[in-house]
Amino acid sequence: MLSTIFATALLLPSLASSQQLIQDPGKAGPELELVHLYYDEWPTGIAVSSTGRKFSNYPGALDKNNTNNGSNNKYTVAELTGNSTEAAYPNAEWNNPPGGGELDCHKSRNALTDFEAINYTTTPPTGANYQNHFIGVQSVVVDPLDRLWVLDTGRVQDPNGTIVNAAVGGPKLVGIDLSNNTVFQTIVFPANVAPGDSYLNDVRFDLRSNITSSGKGVAYITDSSIEGRTGLVIVDLGTGESWRHLQGSTYVAPAQQFLAYIWGIPFYNHQAGQPLGYQGFGADGIALSADGEDLFFGGVGKRYLYSVPTARLRDDGPFSEALAQASVVSRGQKGVSDGYETDTNGYIYHGNAEQNAISFYNPANGTDSLFLRDPRINWVDTLPFGPLNWPGTDRRQRPFALLRVKLPNNGTKTSLR
Ligand SMILES: *[C@@H]1O[C@H](CO)[C@@H](O)[C@H](O)[C@H]1NC(C)=O
Ligand SMILES: *[C@@H]1O[C@H](CO)[C@@H](O)[C@H](O)[C@H]1NC(C)=O
Ligand SMILES: *[C@@H]1O[C@H](CO)[C@@H](O)[C@H](O)[C@H]1NC(C)=O
Ligand SMILES: *[C@@H]1O[C@H](CO)[C@@H](O)[C@H](O)[C@H]1NC(C)=O
Ligand SMILES: *[C@@H]1O[C@H](CO)[C@@H](O)[C@H](O)[C@H]1NC(C)=O
Ligand SMILES: *[C@@H]1O[C@H](CO)[C@@H](O)[C@H](O)[C@H]1NC(C)=O
Ligand SMILES: *[C@@H]1O[C@H](CO)[C@@H](O)[C@H](O)[C@H]1NC(C)=O
Ligand SMILES: *[C@@H]1O[C@H](CO)[C@@H](O)[C@H](O)[C@H]1NC(C)=O
Ligand SMILES: *[C@@H]1O[C@H](CO)[C@@H](O)[C@H](O)[C@H]1NC(C)=O
Repeated sequence: MLSTIFATALLLPSLASSQQLIQDPGKAGPELELVHLYYDEWPTGIAVSSTGRKFSNYPGALDKNNTNNGSNNKYTVAELTGNSTEAAYPNAEWNNPPGGGELDCHKSRNALTDFEAINYTTTPPTGANYQNHFIGVQSVVVDPLDRLWVLDTGRVQDPNGTIVNAAVGGPKLVGIDLSNNTVFQTIVFPANVAPGDSYLNDVRFDLRSNITSSGKGVAYITDSSIEGRTGLVIVDLGTGESWRHLQGSTYVAPAQQFLAYIWGIPFYNHQAGQPLGYQGFGADGIALSADGEDLFFGGVGKRYLYSVPTARLRDDGPFSEALAQASVVSRGQKGVSDGYETDTNGYIYHGNAEQNAISFYNPANGTDSLFLRDPRINWVDTLPFGPLNWPGTDRRQRPFALLRVKLPNNGTKTSLR
């Protein structure tokens, strides 16, 4: 049967070439505008202030070229200073953990003085424990009071590609006043909230004074721990106290044998020297509903969008975990995505990596809609690590790009304050 079809097709070349078969247009929705090209370090996040200042972060855990080793002047947070230039932010000092500068990495290290992003005096090596220096930053966010928050995982890759565990002091949330580029608050997570194998991935802020007794608002964080200790972290910005919820639940865990396709290519996890495996990232994308009453979240290794009432997460009482797990709602499938964002329409935007698209979930009608498609998009938002894991070769090509587009119905950033 097949051979007959082929033969027929071969006999009719003029018909085949004269037929205009319908094809995927590749593009839909509003046009994307190019804003910035990254030629140096590989970024995973962008934050924009009310005056249009832009900040990016460059995690060392996902690219060892981003790891500061004390002598290579790498930054993990930068301000975008021109269309293709970036500078360490808030300064070089925060981005340069002390020590290590004079040493060749093959020489033995001085156990007391030779420190950098990695602490080689521990066995195995861990992230350094500096509270006043960034180690490996996965997210930067501007809050409703126009302050920049830096979420440090405390983890980086060592020269042979191993992601070292964090040490207390590394995983932290650092608030910077943009009017004078000064750190105004540092919240260091204790070991029970951010253990060594945690990976604090993304954060959202609700600064309404009535949601806590301390009155300074709450931060909600996803822990996408590659090793599996994935969950949500909640922080009282007034007291600095933090706690976890939903850990060990199916909602934050990746799906079994999850396989995404990027530009048509199956996306297995392939680390040098290890057998081929599956992507294991847990809870990653996060967004607050426009009214702050629900938190939307989901994993990169899963196609579902979930939400949980924020009141259940803020509760840290004796029954709070059972109540939190019982109140999670599945909002259905939305494709493969990483970061999420909310606008004043109430839409929850998210990437749709397999469709070169950005889509949005509308809580008002419970459905997901296409916002735009563009062949230049391969992995939207805070973790564009897709092509990194392709067997054998690094398929990423410089420059990396920052693109922008106007939101529908004059939508703009939400402001919970
Ligand atoms: C790291 O930097 C080196 C030297 O600049 C470059 O050859 C290599 O491709 C980079 N690797 C990655 C993963 O970006
Ligand atoms: C940056 O890009 C904008 C828009 O493309 C252009 O008008 C401007 O001249 C560029 N600035 C620099 C410094 O290249
Ligand atoms: C730091 O990294 C640079 C390249 O990024 C490398 O040339 C240098 O040897 C490294 N130094 C140490 C101490 O690891
Ligand atoms: C390195 O680890 C040692 C042993 O745990 C600890 O005493 C020291 O403070 C750590 N230093 C840094 C910079 O992480
Ligand atoms: C490779 O990484 C492991 C774990 O951090 C470490 O124990 C080992 O010494 C590293 N090897 C080299 C050559 O850096
Ligand atoms: C930075 O500005 C804030 C807000 O005006 C102020 O409270 C703070 O004291 C300033 N910090 C420094 C170091 O000047
Ligand atoms: C906080 O106040 C807003 C109105 O500003 C209200 O809608 C919300 O329900 C209040 N939340 C709590 C937890 O009291
Ligand atoms: C849901 O709402 C959005 C936004 O108004 C709309 O674009 C979409 O078409 C709606 N979905 C359906 C299935 O009607
Ligand atoms: C968006 O804002 C513009 C200018 O403020 C206004 O003319 C237009 O009607 C608005 N569009 C919508 C859909 O609200």
